[in-house]
Amino acid sequence: MYYIGVDLGTSAVKLLLMEGNGKIVNVVSKEYPLYFPNPGWSEQKPEDWWSAVKDGLKDLTDSFDKAQIAGISFGGQMHGLVILDKDDNVIRPAILWNDGRTQAETDYLNNEIGKDKLSRYTANIAFTGFTAPKILWVKNNEPGNFAKIEKIMLPKDYIAYMLTGSFCTDVSDASGMLLFDVEHKCWSKEMIEICGIRESQLAKIYESYEAVGTLKPDVAEKLGFPESVKVAAGAGDNAAAAIGTGTVGDARCNISLGTSGTIFISSKTFGVDKNNALHSFAHADGSYHLMGCMLSAASCNKWWMEEILKTTDFAKEQEPITDDKLGNNHVYFLPYLMGERSPHNDANARGTFIGMTMDSSRADMYQAVLEGVAFAIRDSFEVAKSLGIDIRASKICGGGAKSPLWRKIFANVLNIRLDIIESEEGPGYGGAILAAVACGEYASVQEAADRLVKVVDTVEPDTEIAKRYEERYQKFKKVYPAVKGIFAEIQ
Ligand code: XUL
Repeated sequence: MYYIGVDLGTSAVKLLLMEGNGKIVNVVSKEYPLYFPNPGWSEQKPEDWWSAVKDGLKDLTDSFDKAQIAGISFGGQMHGLVILDKDDNVIRPAILWNDGRTQAETDYLNNEIGKDKLSRYTANIAFTGFTAPKILWVKNNEPGNFAKIEKIMLPKDYIAYMLTGSFCTDVSDASGMLLFDVEHKCWSKEMIEICGIRESQLAKIYESYEAVGTLKPDVAEKLGFPESVKVAAGAGDNAAAAIGTGTVGDARCNISLGTSGTIFISSKTFGVDKNNALHSFAHADGSYHLMGCMLSAASCNKWWMEEILKTTDFAKEQEPITDDKLGNNHVYFLPYLMGERSPHNDANARGTFIGMTMDSSRADMYQAVLEGVAFAIRDSFEVAKSLGIDIRASKICGGGAKSPLWRKIFANVLNIRLDIIESEEGPGYGGAILAAVACGEYASVQEAADRLVKVVDTVEPDTEIAKRYEERYQKFKKVYPAVKGIFAEIQ
């Protein structure tokens, strides 16, 4: 049988076709536009996702026996607000995970409702990208649209709804809404009241590996798929990537270098960082996880290369950055091109170069960009260490993890071993695994991950380079507090 994993990302949807034995037999990708209507705002059209998914499903399966397709599931960009009216029309473009417009609503939630209460109700505090502040933003700024809301959805759940007609979500993605009581895995009555909504506007909650329905007959017919194809709830892209990299069980770690950068630590039991610097979310295997999320990771690389240098020859630009240069760069870069989430929670933060001299080169600047992203992940890694979590190794996935240089920088900045797994398609592979579990191909997510995920390479830190990076990181840490006050003024 075949299982399809849909990774609904920010730059594109990536779809993957997996055989029951875990072998990936096809991968396709379809891009869609991303809109920045104001500085710090970030939107996409759910209709664009849906047409890209439909085209992608056709291309993915055209040369395969469609009668063998058994299940579909997802890893989806998290936190995005999708709102539908009573006729199921999309009311306005989706407000995405990296949108920073909700500073006032976030401040209201954190300061007037209070972080203690939020943490008690949901295990988390408010960040501008989370869904609840966006609902309040629509309420405060677009009351006409707010009044029309019949259904509140997350991005991948809109696709599940279009495929099956089931108004559903899963525990991992629901965790990022700030409406979900993560510990007890149910909607928070208090948060629903604070946001001025009704529980009927929120979806039914499933575990990520549970089936939410089968394809609608007209959708099945258009795709040429059997109507019996099961759709599983799926997961937020980070939880799905964790499944796809075998990050299940206690204190396992995965770093994802996509548009965002995340460090994900799985845990069999529920736990909250008392300062809420790390998110405390449900995992897609039925357990829990902690996560730090930086808003611009591989997107800093893309921005520097494509917007600034006007090139896409990544290998050529990385060639001059040799081992002797690692940890010896005097240029620093703060990678906050869309503000920053973990651990600063500062929508006003901006990208910053500091430390250039007349002999600073193009390669030094590029190196600073790659290092700045690794240092920013280290900030969240340090929070995890301060909670007593002992991380000796991590998986690494996502587009950015394809660069051997960047992997080496990460291994040395964090001073841990990095395991590279066979499939680079973290969220898509995780989605396909969740579909296979929902269809009974595997008894549990843990069993599927144990049997399917294979480490093919490792990167060990080098004592000398790691030592140099330790010194650099101590300096990097001082840059943000020094310039923080200026960011709000220069908006
Ligand atoms: C996680 C987060 C991002 C998006 C990217 O909290 O906001 O990783 O899920 O798609």
